[in-house]
Amino acid sequence: MGSTIRANAPIDLQDHLQRLEKLGLVQRISRQIDKDSELHPLVRWQFQGGIPSEDRKAFLFDNVTDASGKVYEMPVVVGALAASPEIYAAGLGVNVPEIGDVWTRAMDNPIQPVAADDAPCQEVVITGHELMRFGGGLAALPVPISTPGFDAAPYLTATVVVTKDPETGVRNMGTYRAQLKARDRLGVRMASRLSGAGGYQHWLKYQSRGEVMPVAIVLGCAPAILFTGPQKLPIDEDEMAVAGGLIGSAVRTTRCKTVDLEVPADAEIVIEGEIATDYLEPEGPFGESHGHVAMEDFNMSMKVTAITRRRKAVFISIISQVTPSESSTLKKVAYEPLFLGHLKKTFNIKGIKRVVMHEPLTNIRKVIFLQFDRNVPQTEVWRGLQAAASLQAQCGKVVIAVSEDIDPNNADAIFWSIAYRSNISSDVHITPYRSGGHGPKSGRSGTDATLMIDATLKANMPPLALPREEFMVRAKGIWEELQLPRLTPQSPWHGYELGDWSEQWTDYANRAVAGDWETNGSMTENNQKGGMKPETPVRDFEK
Ligand SMILES: Cc1cc2nc3c(=O)[nH]c(=O)nc-3n(C[C@H](O)[C@H](O)[C@H](O)COP(=O)(O)O)c2cc1C
Repeated sequence: MGSTIRANAPIDLQDHLQRLEKLGLVQRISRQIDKDSELHPLVRWQFQGGIPSEDRKAFLFDNVTDASGKVYEMPVVVGALAASPEIYAAGLGVNVPEIGDVWTRAMDNPIQPVAADDAPCQEVVITGHELMRFGGGLAALPVPISTPGFDAAPYLTATVVVTKDPETGVRNMGTYRAQLKARDRLGVRMASRLSGAGGYQHWLKYQSRGEVMPVAIVLGCAPAILFTGPQKLPIDEDEMAVAGGLIGSAVRTTRCKTVDLEVPADAEIVIEGEIATDYLEPEGPFGESHGHVAMEDFNMSMKVTAITRRRKAVFISIISQVTPSESSTLKKVAYEPLFLGHLKKTFNIKGIKRVVMHEPLTNIRKVIFLQFDRNVPQTEVWRGLQAAASLQAQCGKVVIAVSEDIDPNNADAIFWSIAYRSNISSDVHITPYRSGGHGPKSGRSGTDATLMIDATLKANMPPLALPREEFMVRAKGIWEELQLPRLTPQSPWHGYELGDWSEQWTDYANRAVAGDWETNGSMTENNQKGGMKPETPVRDFEK
């Protein structure tokens, strides 16, 4: 199916924004907005205000100021990458159900980038003393504060940080936050934990050679390129080629002005520089994607050597922190197909249908649901649970398997499944020795563990006691005809069979709704028996 998808992805950020606008997915804000105290909190209401995911938009601010009253000419956009799965899909030029196939195709068929003849991202080049002029350099960019009241500075969040392995020359591109420190200095945080940042592995190599690490931070480019930043690709896979695979054509690249790196030529802004490898500098606090504020840690220090940009650039920022957020949506839509592909292809798990990573508050990594076909052998369910728990060190602290009738996005349905379909003594296992993964540093100790629950249906059960679908659908029509309050159906919203049922009972029910309950009564009258204890199942007696 993947190969049949027509590549129609936007080739740069402004192309993407125009398409989003046509789809009605952009909220333009022309009222004056303070980038440090108002901008992110306003967009945050999209996630904390009970707005359904499909109604979320990209917010485009074209009248941005700061506390000092400084006016920024450059517009700021937040949510343009993944305020919702629909916005993410638009960034790939496809519909939401196709996202997984596009990723699979891109990883199987990367397209090498090509050198461009022209470079819009270098229409303006700022270097040397010009970087340090008052209000210039990084201070000239409308960088918002993500979590006002906790963050120590404005942060770059929608980054693609490009580095190169000094030994193999293989490129890495990762999305890492960067704190504004001075007009020409940034604090950069590349995770050093197990399965942390690819850029950190490069940094270690430069450090052992006693060299600084050349780096380029790309801000704003084709969404497909940005989408590779947070994706967990094999360490030596060139994200620029995978981005080409996502777009369906080669990414045009250009050589940076002051460092030996290539960046997307059609980017909005590029910050070039060098990261020191012989010292670190305090970075943070910053509201993190695990939902707590990351405290001040010693992290990397980047000296900016050039800022290049389009003449009319748009500044892009990602809203992260407590989930759901743009950052968690960005990862969820890409990680879920990665996990499903892993279970299906690498492990050949029978009957696996869906992988759903739990998003609200937990941030997709900790809790994973696996949905299985009915009648799949329990041994396959357990292979699936173990495979999902071990694909990535930081994912799958809790893995729960459910059957296909359970909606993994409905926590009530999950609890229902655990409550009625699992035997806590045989269907629940805890294995020790899991890495603590991505989370706040305080309040935790040592290594973690893994909890796996098989909450699938293991034997036939009676039907779910709601009216059959046809009756609920008919009643919904009447509900709407009566103009009663708007319904948002919650799964399960109709009864269905779960294997334990008989034709006779179907006949009873059909006669009952046809008004012929008296025939049922006369049938049971013929079956009256003495010497029975109440609640003796009729069918036991019939055997
Ligand atoms: C908005 C956002 C901010 C992120 N910030 C960081 C960060 O500061 N440091 C980090 O190591 N990873 C961060 N990540 C996660 C990485 O992008 C992710 O682990 C990715 O796989 C890194 O790419 P790499 O494997 O090539 O290093 C962030 C992700 C998103 C979506």
